[in-house]
Parts: sequence; C-alpha cells; structure tokens
Amino acid sequence: MSDAIDHVLAETRFFSPPEEFARQARLCSDEEYRELHRRSIEEPEEFWGGIADELVWYKRWTRVLNWDNPPFARWFEGGKTNITVNCLDRHLTTARKNKAAILWEGEPYQERRTLTYLELHRLVCRFANALKNLGVGKGDRVAIYLPMVPELAIAMLACARIGAIHSVIFAGFSAPSLVDRLNDAKAKAVITADGGFRRGQVIPLKSVVDEALLQSPTVRHVVVLRRTGTDVHWVHGRDHWWRDVMDPASSVCEPEPMDSEDPLFILYTSGSTGKPKGVLHTTGGYMVGTYLTTKYVFDLREEDTYWCTADIGWVTGHSYIVYGPLANGATTLLYEGAPNHPTPDRFWQIVERYRVNIFYTAPTAIRAFMKWGDGWPRRYDLSSLRLLGTVGEPINPEAWLWYHKTIGQERCPIVDTWWQTETGGIMITPLPGLTKTKPGSATIPFFGVDAAVVDEHGHELPPGKGGLLVIRRPWPSMVRTLWGDDDRFVEYYWSRFRQQGWYLTGDGAVRDEKGYFTILGRIDDVINVSGHRLSTMELESALASHPSVVEAAVVGFDHEIKGLGIAAFVTPAGGVLPGIQLAGELSEHVKKTIGAIARPDQVRFTDSLPKTRSGKIMRRLLRDIASGREIKSDTSTLEDYSALAKLYDEE
Ligand code: WT7
Repeated sequence: MSDAIDHVLAETRFFSPPEEFARQARLCSDEEYRELHRRSIEEPEEFWGGIADELVWYKRWTRVLNWDNPPFARWFEGGKTNITVNCLDRHLTTARKNKAAILWEGEPYQERRTLTYLELHRLVCRFANALKNLGVGKGDRVAIYLPMVPELAIAMLACARIGAIHSVIFAGFSAPSLVDRLNDAKAKAVITADGGFRRGQVIPLKSVVDEALLQSPTVRHVVVLRRTGTDVHWVHGRDHWWRDVMDPASSVCEPEPMDSEDPLFILYTSGSTGKPKGVLHTTGGYMVGTYLTTKYVFDLREEDTYWCTADIGWVTGHSYIVYGPLANGATTLLYEGAPNHPTPDRFWQIVERYRVNIFYTAPTAIRAFMKWGDGWPRRYDLSSLRLLGTVGEPINPEAWLWYHKTIGQERCPIVDTWWQTETGGIMITPLPGLTKTKPGSATIPFFGVDAAVVDEHGHELPPGKGGLLVIRRPWPSMVRTLWGDDDRFVEYYWSRFRQQGWYLTGDGAVRDEKGYFTILGRIDDVINVSGHRLSTMELESALASHPSVVEAAVVGFDHEIKGLGIAAFVTPAGGVLPGIQLAGELSEHVKKTIGAIARPDQVRFTDSLPKTRSGKIMRRLLRDIASGREIKSDTSTLEDYSALAKLYDEE
C-alpha cells in the first residue's frame, strides 16, 4: 500500500507582498532568502552562531550543534546564558527601558495594565525571589495554572530566572488532567489564581487545584493570585497568597547561569491516544529559534504593537506571546478573554484601541468571525494593521480570502505559519516582504529547516504528490525528549525514518512546482475511499468554498459497500436554511470541485463543530457519530456537537 495522498484541489491564486510592505521589510528579495536558507542548511555553524551572537551569553558555546547521538541534539553546546537576561535585562540599558513590554486587557471592561520592560523585570525578579524563598530552585518543576493575566508571564519568566522548569497547564483543564501532568513532572509547586473570568463567568481555578492535589503528593506549595475574589479553601503551610510572597521579596535577583541544554520548560500536548506527552524544550536553542522566527516572520519593528491571540497554555503563547517577542524587545499584547465577550467585536475593538500592527490568530477563530458577520469588524478602524498571521490548522482558502479582504483590507500580507509544540518555533511560513502567498499554503521552509514530502520508504515525492512531511535535519528549537520517557520520544517521532535520522511530523503535505508546501492535515485522518487517499483539508476546503458554508469537518466512517464512506459535518452560513436541498447541493459542489469519488455519503448540519480546547476539530468524536448512527443524508435539525465534545475525554 502506498502512503501517497491524492492531491485534488488546485489553488492558482497568488498574492504578492504589497509594495509598501516590501519596501520596508527586513527581507525582500528571493535571492537573499535563498542564499540565507542555503547557508543555514549547509553552514549551520556559521549561520546559527551568527544569530546566537546577537544575544547575550555568559559563556560562548564550544560547538553550535552536536548531532553525534541522534535524535538527541545538543545546540550551542558548552554555552551558558539565561533567557530572561535576553528577554529583559538586555533591554534595560537601551531606549526600551520604559517601553511597554506587556499591554494587558482583562475580559471585564475597563481593566487595563501596561508593564514596561523595567517594571516587568522588577516583578519577575521579585517573584523569582519569592519562589526561592519557598525552596524552589534550579531543575525543580513548577506548574502554572493561571488565566491570561500578566502574572502568568511573570511566573514563567521567574522560573526561567532561577532555572526552575515551568509546566504551564491551560486553565481550561480539569482536575484529572491536572493530576496527570503534575504527577508526570513531579511538580514541587503550583502557581494558580482563586478564579479566572471566561465569558463573564468565574472559573474556580483554586478549587480545581485543591481537588487535583488530593492525588498529587509531590506538590509542596501553592501560590494563589487574587483575581476574581472567589472564596477559596485554604491549606495552611501549603497555600500562599501571591501578594504575601511578593511583599517581602527583593527586586534584585541574579539570573541563574543556565547551560544551553538545561531544560527551560515542559509543555504537555495531548497525544491522539494514551497519556499526554511532556514535550521538553531547553534553553539556548529555543531562545535563538524563537528570537529569529519572531524577528523575520513577523517582520518586527521597534514601534510595532504585536498581538498573538493564542492562550499561553499552548506553545503558541510560550513562543509568540512571551519568549520570542520579549527577546526582540517588542510590545506584546495580552487579552484575557473570549473574542465574543461581551459582543463579537471584542477583538476589533482591541485592535483599534491599541492600534495593533501585527495580528496572529487561528483559522478556527477566523471562521467564527466569518460566521458572526462582516458588520462587526467594519465598525472599527483597522488601518493600523500591517501584517496578519495564522497558526494551528490548515486554513481553507475561503477563510484566507475573507481574512485578507475583511481584516487585512487587501493591504496586509498573511503569514500562514506551520509548526508544532514539538518544533518549538515556526518551521514553514511565508516571509512577509518577499513570499508570494497562495491561500491555504504555508509556502516555504524557514532558515535551518530542511523539510521534505516523502513516501513511506523515504523517497522524495514529485510536485503535486501528497505524502509524509518530514524534517531531515535538527533545528535549534526542536523538542529534546518527552519528559522522563526517551524511549517514547524515539519511538513516536524518529522510528519511522530511524536510518535517515529524520523527524516525522505526523502531518501530510504536498509541494508544488515552486516548492511551496501545503499541509494536508494529520496523516491519521486521511480517508481512503476505494483506494483513493483523500486529505480532510482538501475535502473541507471544497465544502467551505460553497457560499452557504462557513465551516466543515470531514471524516471517514464504516460503509457497507465502499468500506469507507465520507461524512461531512457542516456549519451553514448565517441565514442559510439547512436541509435535504442544501445537502444535495453540497454533494454536487464537492463532485464538481474534486470529483465523484469525493462526494460525501452523509451531510449533517451543525451549529458548531466539536473542538479541542486548542481549537482543533475532534475528528475521533465525529467518526463515532458518523459510524454509530443510521445514515441519513439530510439532517435538517441543527445539532450542537460541541456540547457532545464536553462529554468526551480529549486525551
Ligand atoms: C499541529 C501542531 C503550532 C502551534 C499550535 C499548534 C497543525 C499547525 C498549521 C498550519 C496547517 C497546521 C498541524 C501540526 N498545524 N499549524 N499553519 N497549517 N496545519 O500546536 O497543538 O502542537 O499542533 O497543528 O497538524 O502538526 P500543536
């Protein structure tokens, strides 16, 4: 059996970088990109050494890359640094000293805070001392379970300051998920809040922690931030108010000199099965990787206001709200709440108020904005925006075009950035001043990234043939291992191409003649219909190109005759009547766009699709729904499958 994926959608629209943008961009010539990319691959020592030299080290490395023992890479071996010195201290002797580092807006109205670099530095040092006073030191694991408040970034940086390893746990996770993560890492302390605000509701975080700690014996201290004023249960000796530990703490804290390969953080990512994987990132390589990608992919300039809407509970927030932007001395915006609280224009209000220049969000959010209607963004002045980005999933061309027109007003390049928790930083992406973008394509590999599309034997596939996306060389911000489980790390990512020493991404992709990569979704989701291997991304994009559709998810299900049938779950556009007629029209539309082979056997309509907490469609749940019920081609009642998702265990 071949692993090749049939590539069935042809996208022919290209968008050149707007002239005005290109004129001022850091990189604006193809030749320059090609030369830099070549050097980054062929002369990694010089290339990465040169970049690392832009940052501060206590001791220079002796070797840029040690790959003697794959897949365990060592970057900037022998080097010593502290990431907080690069994110904070080094800016204090420059004009950035009193520049806003973090702009924060809380979900409830009128709550705003600005932290300058100097203020952020002081708070980080004080909290670092507070942790020390509790007995937390280098190598200890600290779990952070906080809402999107500045203290979340402060806590992370304070850990990094003293060499403690942070493990940020998204504040939407339940007590059992917390238990798994705390126990796997043997966390010594937990930083949390009494509660968090979400769509006007209070989420009682401290009580979730209390419940989890009944089963997490390693945790000795809990620091609790007052956020919502919620009543909390208190364990004396174990629990401490944030204010009380901060009060006596000095604002002078010498940074711990960290070995380049000393762990910086663990971030748990749910595997499709089994227990969550503790992705481990280390100090030097992660620092250099996020610094460089932030600088070039977002074309950051001193005066920019930069906003990434992700939650810091995911890697996007680690790399592109906290570490990358601060390493570049940028102003990074943090918003606590939901995009539709109290009304669906909250994001555009924020863009207008802070004159956001760079805006980075997820396709799932973009499709929600489309569903809510153009009226919301139209009311606001979005003229400050100069660059847009997406991450997290393939973006279907319709959503891309909507983003381009309605938000970018045809003036802003869009960077569709492909990467993973494991890659630490952006891997495949347009460079906004030079790459001609193609809706739905993440385009070209970033510096140092040797990406390829191969078949199951590792043979590179020709343009237009879909296959496995692999990375053939180590890169600085790569995952170093899964916490406490080297075997699982080797098995999961490196066993498929052990001989070659290639990293298996788990994603399908296709390259075009220009060398552009288009991500086709997870390999496990590919649907094999009568011998044709169809990617979910292309089927979903075909459906979403119909004017009556805002979002679609496609899965395979057991079919008596064909073996596997195609089920489509469709969210119709506002004002569109779902029913048998529309179902027929959509089937016809897919047939016309892709071919008869791709015609869905079931079309179901839904108000909202079930998503994971990070916004990815829960295909496993949809497969069960599609397989488990009698087949009706016209579900005209709108079901809310996202409600079902809550009953499902994500891990
Ligand atoms: C998976 C990684 C990277 C930070 C957020 C998600 C999918 C991510 C794209 C993109 C198509 C994308 C892939 C990848 N993905 N970005 N631009 N185009 N697919 O991190 O939870 O580790 O998920 O997200 O399937 O493997 P993550």
